[in-house]
Amino acid sequence: MDLLLANVITTQLAHLYTSSNEWGNLRDPEQIMKMFTGRFRLTSVLFLGIPLTFLCLFLFTTLRKSTHSVEKIHLVETSYTSENTRPQQVKVCDKQEPFKNIYSRNPKTGWTLNEDVCRGCPNFRKSKLQTPYGETPIYIYKAAEDIYISKGIQTAGIFDKHKTLEVLKALQKDKSLDLIDIGANIGVFTLSAAKLGRRVIAIDALNTNIQHLCFSVREGGFEKNVTIIHNAVADRSGMIVNLGVQKNNMGGTFIDFKSENIKKVKKEFKATIGGSYGNISTIILDEILELDALKSFKNVVVKMDIEGFEDRVLLGATAFFKTLNIRAVFMEWVFHRHAASGVTVIDFMTQAGFIPFTESGGRLSVSSRTSWPLDVLWLPNS
Ligand SMILES: *[C@@H]1O[C@H](CO)[C@@H](O)[C@H](O)[C@H]1NC(C)=O
Ligand SMILES: *[C@@H]1O[C@H](CO)[C@@H](O)[C@H](O)[C@H]1NC(C)=O
Repeated sequence: MDLLLANVITTQLAHLYTSSNEWGNLRDPEQIMKMFTGRFRLTSVLFLGIPLTFLCLFLFTTLRKSTHSVEKIHLVETSYTSENTRPQQVKVCDKQEPFKNIYSRNPKTGWTLNEDVCRGCPNFRKSKLQTPYGETPIYIYKAAEDIYISKGIQTAGIFDKHKTLEVLKALQKDKSLDLIDIGANIGVFTLSAAKLGRRVIAIDALNTNIQHLCFSVREGGFEKNVTIIHNAVADRSGMIVNLGVQKNNMGGTFIDFKSENIKKVKKEFKATIGGSYGNISTIILDEILELDALKSFKNVVVKMDIEGFEDRVLLGATAFFKTLNIRAVFMEWVFHRHAASGVTVIDFMTQAGFIPFTESGGRLSVSSRTSWPLDVLWLPNS
């Protein structure tokens, strides 16, 4: 990013230099007067502005570095920019090596390396994800196909900035914390955490999300630190489930299952729901403990965004919660507010030793679950 900025400044300098060529004609005294009056502002800008820009750049970079080393988060808000560049349409190819860090599990073969999902040369739109630690490439959908996540990135460089910052804040509490991102989508949380230098397990059911993520991970230079899992997570392993489609919201892809919550999803988004993205095999969270990549994970933050499926996922996560030292769990609450699934979630999390909070840390009372916010944060009670 610094290189880019320096580039912009050089270009502007060259431009100013060209436009000041008329200064060459200094024989005319009137011209000279004009230069010191009318042009005075321009010269000040040139002679003061440029060194000042470099000074600011230097201070900003140094400050940012020192902020990193003490792991403070309060500068985070100010280091986001408010606009992003237009995405370019690019053909990306896996021409070098196949992606190595992608796994799928099915009941016949167990865990297998699933290199095929990211093969080929898809035509994707490339944008930039803004993180507190600098920007990183991200492949996105057309804004009209994905009116929340991709559109947010395209226009503001980020989607759900508040939640992203809260997840990053939780990770920054301790250098040993890694992220498990369940419902990673195109990787806003995964890439931000990887950019912070943490390891990530990113799980998603939709193959096109996984493809976008592969290329973003590779271009960001995070291939070693991000392990991708292409499966749906549920309460039973080895089921084949259908992925429901929201036509204008790729991020709203859901497991099309007969349940109270999915009925609600379908009712709420009735106008845009239709069709299937195909079938995918389920895993339970406990099974990811079998992966080598997870054996070195110990202290983790968990983020779940799985469109009303949280209660089911927890039912398959007993060993997961016992084995890992889970320091924070971010989850959507919107689907559980008034549903029986809310009780299932509260029972499980309470048993596992967690207390509910708002994302920014306000204590929530179990008895008022129907008025909890859209998202909740569970923190261990010890
Ligand atoms: C990968 O993770 C390790 C351990 O968290 C970290 O030290 C390293 O800097 C990370 N690598 C990158 C490219 O971010
Ligand atoms: C997925 O499986 C269901 C049955 O479980 C079947 O009805 C459906 O046609 C399948 N869809 C695709 C796209 O394969």
